[in-house]
Amino acid sequence: MTHTSDADPLPEANHQSRSSDFSPAFSIGSLPIYGQLILAPMDGISDPPFRLITRRLGSAFSLSEFINTLDFSVQKHFQQSRFAFHPQEHPFGIQLLDNDPQRMADSAGEIYAKYKPDFFDINLGCATARIASRGAGVGLMRTPEKVAQIFQLINQAVPVPLTVKMRLGWDEDSLNYREVAEIAVANGAQAITLHGRTGKMAYRGKARWEPIAELKAYLPVPVIGNGDVTTPALARQMLTETGCDAVMIGRGAKTNPWIFSWRERSEVPPAEVYGLICYQYRAMQPYYPNGAVLPFRKFLKAYLEPYALPNNRLQAILTAKREDQLFKQLDHLFLELGVLNLNAAREVFDIYMQNW
Ligand SMILES: Cc1cc2nc3c(=O)[nH]c(=O)nc-3n(C[C@H](O)[C@H](O)[C@H](O)COP(=O)(O)O)c2cc1C
Repeated sequence: MTHTSDADPLPEANHQSRSSDFSPAFSIGSLPIYGQLILAPMDGISDPPFRLITRRLGSAFSLSEFINTLDFSVQKHFQQSRFAFHPQEHPFGIQLLDNDPQRMADSAGEIYAKYKPDFFDINLGCATARIASRGAGVGLMRTPEKVAQIFQLINQAVPVPLTVKMRLGWDEDSLNYREVAEIAVANGAQAITLHGRTGKMAYRGKARWEPIAELKAYLPVPVIGNGDVTTPALARQMLTETGCDAVMIGRGAKTNPWIFSWRERSEVPPAEVYGLICYQYRAMQPYYPNGAVLPFRKFLKAYLEPYALPNNRLQAILTAKREDQLFKQLDHLFLELGVLNLNAAREVFDIYMQNW
């Protein structure tokens, strides 16, 4: 196995990515955005530690997991960690999900006063049955007049730009992304992210990219493409084929957070994977009072996938209940994978996260 020494510095994240100089790739209103790859909001995945790691690796801005303003408005102790962000994450957006324009605007005002995000994103994409069926998420695409109201009211409630993340439509018989995008922009949306699937498709089938090109060709605001980008080559392909301003990456980022540095997962040596694992696990601890072992498993499963471990070994790692049991196994594994100095691997990644 050939790889760099464990103590070698990590390759610098290319925040400028495909921009040829230090000028922004695009802007959200007056907010300059540097870089063309962005971590997608993912409930249960894009928590503050994972977002910070992906920002360091090159993701161009951070967006919170969705905030359901129905819950926010009634729960005294709404989960604060969903609003938490690190200063290095700026620009940071908070995503709102609901079906009631006034409640969304009131919540936005309250959230802005407390957390001061750089922008708000409106979720027109969540296809979870209990959300969509009450007319929130992708359910809002069936009521474009409500979309107009939402943008009008939230625009009055907060002094920061608004963006929208949407799908192609409710189903194949109602592909109204053009109409909804136009309404959002006419009422103040400053950027559009389009996931190239309908609500009915959820995450099945193949994302269609032509509608992303279509929106880019006629909308006056930046268009961010989303759907099925899992490698740097696919990100380049989406940028070239659709002309979109940036690419948002969801599930592929969980498998390969280094994608934001335009790196294939196969290019990342085990020492770096180990360093990231140790950093992320530790960084998650303050956010998970019941322990980070369980919530970290889904990441670990994705990070270990390329090593094609025998099933019983993988299961032993993924069912470890205590931190010491887990890291004993991980330390063995990464020594076997050729990491010469585990301490050095940990330190290099920690230093990398501290210096940027
Ligand atoms: C586990 C999971 C949670 C998600 N949570 C959100 C969310 O909170 N807000 C949102 O707008 N989209 C959410 N999405 C959708 C993603 O942002 C993205 O649009 C979708 O996964 C398609 O992109 P991909 O093919 O790169 O994964 C979620 C997706 C997944 C897989």
